[in-house]
Amino acid sequence: MNVVICDDHQHMNALAAQVFIDLLKSNPQAVLGLATGTTPIGVYQKLIDSYRAGEISFAEVTTFNLDEYIGLHRDHDQSYYYFMHQKLLNHVDIQGQRVFIPSGVEEDYATYCQWYEDRITEAGGIDLQILGIGSDGHIAFNEPGTALGSRTHITELDPQTIRDNSRLFKSIDDVPRRAITMGVATIMEARQIILLATGENKAEAVRDALQGPVSSECTASALQQHPDVTFYLDTAAARLLQNE
Ligand code: GLP
Repeated sequence: MNVVICDDHQHMNALAAQVFIDLLKSNPQAVLGLATGTTPIGVYQKLIDSYRAGEISFAEVTTFNLDEYIGLHRDHDQSYYYFMHQKLLNHVDIQGQRVFIPSGVEEDYATYCQWYEDRITEAGGIDLQILGIGSDGHIAFNEPGTALGSRTHITELDPQTIRDNSRLFKSIDDVPRRAITMGVATIMEARQIILLATGENKAEAVRDALQGPVSSECTASALQQHPDVTFYLDTAAARLLQNE
């Protein structure tokens, strides 16, 4: 895996955004895997800037988001549907029918999860997936203990994730307890993956992901087995890495 350590967050966002920009220039019909969370917001802003500067277009792009809270309607201000539209999609020329964000309000999730997987396959798979990482080492909402062979599924959120994400809700009781998420195996099928992590509270997760055993206890560790992954880290998030 490649690791880029960069203390200037603007520069880090620019480097990560450049991976998308290069892809979109060479393949305007690229399929992008998108993530929520605070960490990628700066990258999305750089993509909006690049679009406004006329460098890239999303007109033929297809996007798939990783996950969504169960029970939140798309117009809830903490839904990931709302987040993606606020932070990126409303500001570029993407076509609504090529935006896929898991729904948090389905009745038959067995059917729906398979439908989501089928849409990814039908689109030809994901060319470039951006990820954040949870402080417990999760990618998307693949919490500790999730099988590394998992595909899109419903999951119970870990108490640590509920605590972490409560900062964005009025109270911890408002944080949904379940989510729909792409599985680890779904994510691993992306042809290229970039993961961003900043801040002290990600340091253990980053160490376990990069230098721990490949284990469902840290689902990001599965990325060690992917042929094209780059971690973009600030020094706080990279603090516990051992020189190898
Ligand atoms: C949520 C998302 C993850 C994201 C994580 C980290 O749990 N499901 O995809 O990586 O938050 O979020 P942040 O970037 O805000 O630390």
